[in-house]
Amino acid sequence: MVKVKMFSSVSAEPDAAMDMPKLDAGVFYDVVDSRRSTRIYAQDGIPDEVIDRVVDAAQKAPNSSNLQCWELYRVASSENKEKLVKACLGQPAASTAPELFVFVARPDLWRRNNAWTLQEFDRRGNMPERAYQYFTKITRIAYTQGVFAWVKRLWFPLRGLTQATPREPIGRSDMRVWAHKSTALSAAHFMLAMRAEGYDTCPMEGMDSRRIKKLLALPRRAEICMVVSAGKRTAKGVYGERFRFARDTFYHIR
Ligand SMILES: Cc1cc2nc3c(=O)[nH]c(=O)nc-3n(C[C@H](O)[C@H](O)[C@H](O)COP(=O)(O)O)c2cc1C
Repeated sequence: MVKVKMFSSVSAEPDAAMDMPKLDAGVFYDVVDSRRSTRIYAQDGIPDEVIDRVVDAAQKAPNSSNLQCWELYRVASSENKEKLVKACLGQPAASTAPELFVFVARPDLWRRNNAWTLQEFDRRGNMPERAYQYFTKITRIAYTQGVFAWVKRLWFPLRGLTQATPREPIGRSDMRVWAHKSTALSAAHFMLAMRAEGYDTCPMEGMDSRRIKKLLALPRRAEICMVVSAGKRTAKGVYGERFRFARDTFYHIR
């Protein structure tokens, strides 16, 4: 058996950083600063080409092992929108929005996506052996659940006595968290991209996830991460001035 280092990373191609576009950080901070959760939207729609670009940005979010265990649903028909608004408890951030999207965490898809990744490596034909090792050994150790979760429950803490060892994901609930992390990052990309395009958004977890799963015909292990509404804010569409707690409650240096 090949001995593999736990969680060795797949390194970037050496010249990946060479061809960087010229960046304007000011524009980025304007996007960040002007993004506000919008509760009341104007009725202007969002052009499909804008939505296409924003979806593309959402799909480029960093995600664990690049296994992309996420999905994004645009709820487009008026019948489905009506049901989704109800499932979002009728809140105005949903009911006034011209567009509604649902970010779904799919921990159940890691094996399929792992296989797709290996197919992509074969197609490329130039992937280093350690990349193959990562997706044939490490991901299987890290993400397999069922009986193997019990092996990990014993093995990882023992290994952890003498060396740094990943403590999760172990079982199914860890895998839920694992998938939600990446899915939420995708939602963040989506909301910032919408703002960069001049549109506004509101993330929502005030919703009936079971009803939404039914509406989208999702399997049992799929998880609603958040609903995100989008459109153009009205003058009174943002509730109050933004505030955050003191920076030293958030940012620590050790
Ligand atoms: C995971 C998550 C769930 C949220 N759920 C709701 C919600 O159900 N309804 C709502 O009006 N706002 C919701 N929000 C928006 C937050 O209230 C908002 O982000 C926060 O008040 C900060 O304001 P800002 O986004 O304008 O900076 C949610 C935000 C996040 C990240």
